[in-house]
Amino acid sequence: MSDTRVIGVDVGGSGVKAALVDVKRGELASVRPRIDTPQPATPKLVAATVSRLVDQLGGAPSIGITVPAVVRSGIVRTAANIDPSWIGTDAQALFGEQLGVPCVVLNDADAAGLAEVRFGAGKGRSGVVILLTLGTGIGSALFVDGELVPNTELGHMEFKAQEAEHYAAASVRKANNLGWDHWGTRVGEYLAMLTMLFSPELIILGGGVSRKFDRFAEHVLAEVPSGTDVMPAVLQNQAGIVGAAMSTQKHPVTE
Ligand code: BGC
Repeated sequence: MSDTRVIGVDVGGSGVKAALVDVKRGELASVRPRIDTPQPATPKLVAATVSRLVDQLGGAPSIGITVPAVVRSGIVRTAANIDPSWIGTDAQALFGEQLGVPCVVLNDADAAGLAEVRFGAGKGRSGVVILLTLGTGIGSALFVDGELVPNTELGHMEFKAQEAEHYAAASVRKANNLGWDHWGTRVGEYLAMLTMLFSPELIILGGGVSRKFDRFAEHVLAEVPSGTDVMPAVLQNQAGIVGAAMSTQKHPVTE
């Protein structure tokens, strides 16, 4: 499999990014073109955007694609931060028809988690590991001894009388002009609840803010019970692309 070309595509709220991926090393193997997410971000328009990116990269026989939603057997089931017309869409079939090759479609946080657990902050860790992406919303990926439990959606748990992602996502800090200390405490409180429920060995914080971990780490850690490590993601904004590509290897699609 090592010489197989694999493309990973990360469909986000503002941009769609793609690259060839070296799935053995967990690294990008090409440039990483980006196109603004079309508005409205309907399945048809997003599929056309993905197709342009794949063409720019010269195509591949295996393509993994993330979407910010629950995906079961290739079908999108939720649309918290994407166009509602995705619900019920067979994304695997849609992308497969558009791109002309077998595609695997999975949740964006699950993809980032696959990459971080294999190649990043979670490498070599056993037991329960949780990756959270702190962005527009909160995405989650739950692992037990390296095995993904998909579509956990822990960002939508009720916390302090609202959805957790409305309390502690990175977008909430900006929208409410919260200081890093205040926001870090919110994240820490949320992690403390997850710790109570799952007793994780490690919680990995991903999303763009993982680069600024130093600014809020102290406030997060003050809330989290000892015995659970909290670390920033190391693959940062490449994790989704790398994980998307990895998913094509783990669960190969047969025609
Ligand atoms: C969605 C998740 C997604 C997360 C991060 C949430 O609102 O429900 O599926 O992983 O945002 O994009």
